[in-house]
Amino acid sequence: MEHFECLFCRKKYPVDVFHPFCPSCSEPLLVARSRRPRAFHLEKELAIEKCLDFLPLPEIVPHLSLGEGQTPLIRLSRTMKKFGLPPLYAKNETANPTASFKDRGTVVAVHKAISLGLKKIGTVSTGNMAGSTAAYAAKAGLRSFVFVKEDTSREKIFSAGIYGPVLFTVRGDYGRLFRQSFEIGKKFGIYFMNSVDPYRIEGYKVTGYETFFQLGSRPPRYIFVPVSAGGHLIGLLRAFQDLTSEGLIKKCPTFVGVQARGCSPLARAFRQKKATFSRFSNPKTIAHAISNPNPPGGNIVLKIVRENGGMILGVSDTEILKAQRWLAEQEGIFCDPASATTLAGLLQLSKKMSFGARDQIVLVITGSGLKTLDDMDTFKVNAQESSLESLANKIETVLS
Ligand SMILES: Cc1ncc(COP(=O)(O)O)c(C=O)c1O
Ligand SMILES: [Zn+2]
Repeated sequence: MEHFECLFCRKKYPVDVFHPFCPSCSEPLLVARSRRPRAFHLEKELAIEKCLDFLPLPEIVPHLSLGEGQTPLIRLSRTMKKFGLPPLYAKNETANPTASFKDRGTVVAVHKAISLGLKKIGTVSTGNMAGSTAAYAAKAGLRSFVFVKEDTSREKIFSAGIYGPVLFTVRGDYGRLFRQSFEIGKKFGIYFMNSVDPYRIEGYKVTGYETFFQLGSRPPRYIFVPVSAGGHLIGLLRAFQDLTSEGLIKKCPTFVGVQARGCSPLARAFRQKKATFSRFSNPKTIAHAISNPNPPGGNIVLKIVRENGGMILGVSDTEILKAQRWLAEQEGIFCDPASATTLAGLLQLSKKMSFGARDQIVLVITGSGLKTLDDMDTFKVNAQESSLESLANKIETVLS
């Protein structure tokens, strides 16, 4: 039988999607690992079908999928050359149906909702997860409930609202809203598949398996990933732990979690060698998607990153914006500021340590820049004006 598990007190609990937190230590629960025989089915069409044995689902229902996953792993040759880096890749999660990695977790959690006979799902989000949850609810014919912060921009509200959820902009503390959503969920039978939902986290594992196969059935040496609530990093690391326990790899990649310095509770706790983090006051960063002063999966991230021999870094907004621009201009990848923290973190680290010439490095590019245009006042795009008549002359000036 399937169970939830607490990584801290190691106790197992019955599955309860309405309150996936440890009754003893309040930390988020994860799906306990299954001991059944497992294999990949690479001949299948959908990413989740290929990895079904590694997911806590009895079967895949193809019409619940929007075609998430199987995103490109792009070699960043110019970046390698310019900064003298070993083989470097971007796992481009902006290619997902709603333009972020969240779809991978949502599709698994929606399968769970359907198998439990639930008709209502919800999420608390500042952006990407709201759109993803609302889109998959629409596809599955479920009602969705989306709670966003009161100061969420029109563009972000629109990118979730278009799918027709019941949408609330909520005044008040975001951390309290997160906790309250579970009470509301329990009361009204709404499955709130929030950032550290155990099934959502299971879905994120698929990115790890895919990366392994894209590198010719080998793990990269390093993985850089932006961290907010922590669910994504937890899922990715679990994927490589699975590959290790299946005997497919000898060693997990080293994980480097990256936060924006202006809201970096985990980077701070890591630097101070603390086992648990404390709330970050006055968060301020351009990377809104990862600006969570009180991340629910934060203590798990600190624990597993330490056990992994990895690290958590903080990068400045200036470093983030430079990296974002570089990826667009030099590599053709338009990511959001949260994703750009990965390159910013790598460049920061490369000044302090040297990588082996054959160490493969993967940056997980989690979300599209097209969804954060409203954050980008600081960006100067040089659009010149011209009449039709003078256009050719102006081009001549540019080229001369
Ligand atoms: C683009 C982007 N990157 C990274 C993250 C961080 O993921 P997590 O909250 O699972 O740590 C988020 C989500 O909140 C996001 O929207
Ligand atoms: Zn516990």
